[in-house]
Amino acid sequence: MKLLVTGGAGFIGSNFIRHWLANHPDDEIVNYDKLTYAGTRESLKDIEASENYKFVWGDICDLFLVQKTLRENSIDTIVHFAAQTHVDRSILASQKSKQAKDVVDLFTESLSEDFVLNNVWGTHVLLEAALKHGVKRFHHVSTDEVFGSLPLGSEEKWSEDACYNPRSPYSASKAAADHLVRAYHSTYGLPITVTNCANNIGPYLFPEKFLSLAITNLLEGKKTSVYAPGNQIREWLWVGDHIRAIELVLQQGKVGETYFVSPDNPELPNLEVIKKVLEIMNLGEDMIELVKDRPGHDQRYAMDSGKIRQMLGWKPEVGIDDALVKLVSWYRENEWWWKPLKEKNKKFYTEQYGNR
Ligand SMILES: NC(=O)c1ccc[n+]([C@@H]2O[C@H](COP(=O)([O-])OP(=O)(O)OC[C@H]3O[C@@H](n4cnc5c(N)ncnc54)[C@H](O)[C@@H]3O)[C@@H](O)[C@H]2O)c1
Repeated sequence: MKLLVTGGAGFIGSNFIRHWLANHPDDEIVNYDKLTYAGTRESLKDIEASENYKFVWGDICDLFLVQKTLRENSIDTIVHFAAQTHVDRSILASQKSKQAKDVVDLFTESLSEDFVLNNVWGTHVLLEAALKHGVKRFHHVSTDEVFGSLPLGSEEKWSEDACYNPRSPYSASKAAADHLVRAYHSTYGLPITVTNCANNIGPYLFPEKFLSLAITNLLEGKKTSVYAPGNQIREWLWVGDHIRAIELVLQQGKVGETYFVSPDNPELPNLEVIKKVLEIMNLGEDMIELVKDRPGHDQRYAMDSGKIRQMLGWKPEVGIDDALVKLVSWYRENEWWWKPLKEKNKKFYTEQYGNR
């Protein structure tokens, strides 16, 4: 296979590339990434010199470069991770419009990080280029967040035919991308597959997400903030389990199908997850600071991943307790990776989280 991996310098993309090259040494990968604040070539520096790996610095919104890259590298498979991914940033960006003098000022300052531009237009460009080039597979990586929010205390779970009900600018832009991907299959016969996955944790998770921010703050001796009252429920999947799911879908998944990917873990409120982290780090609950909740905070996500388990034989291998231990160890041992990223993004941390 000759794969184009978009967003391969980010968290899940870099884990995917490392896994794929180790397990498919005859394949070739082009990592196509714009290197936004969330992407760094440091995450793949151990494989930079591999003969079957190439990095192209490019924007998925750039039709000419996307097309040229597909052609010059005879790409047959696209695995599409590239996106603006942080919900808090998507909310902050739109809140800034209240402060901006006018909407022109707002977009001039932040267009390159705009969620609709990158996640919707970028996906559209890729789909067009994939169609013209005639790829054998376009795999789109998406999230559970597109389905909205389930009530706390309910037993309900989403399955692949659930209605879309995105509630943040991030999830709305991902939902639009999902629809476009499926529309290109129904309308033009583009051979697509889609995975919607729960929250991932693992190495190279950018230190702004709930658990990576908490762990790095605690390692820096700071308190960790949790949106009050801390009862929101997320599902946490070890990134390696997600990568194996995508691998299986690429190898055996049925074209046109969507597969949900979620863990076995018991449902845990965010506050309980943080307490587990504190226990692993031998710290007390006084290190938790409950802060004002974010607007429109989704209460509970829960997916039924029976389809991928039954049809493709996938199951997660790492439970939440082991995953958290592995995650804490990784951040302890890899300050060289996350400290410079936190330093470089200080402005965002101050705007979003104050001094935390
Ligand atoms: N992180 C999760 O828990 C999770 C869960 C489910 C689904 N997803 C989805 O998986 C994908 C990857 O998520 P992640 O957490 O690795 O994201 P990330 O923010 O860590 O990485 C995103 C990468 O995309 C690149 N990128 C962004 N815009 C680009 C553009 N216009 N052109 C080229 N490159 C661009 C960035 O430079 C970065 O390397 C996303 O589509 C996300 O919606 C993530």
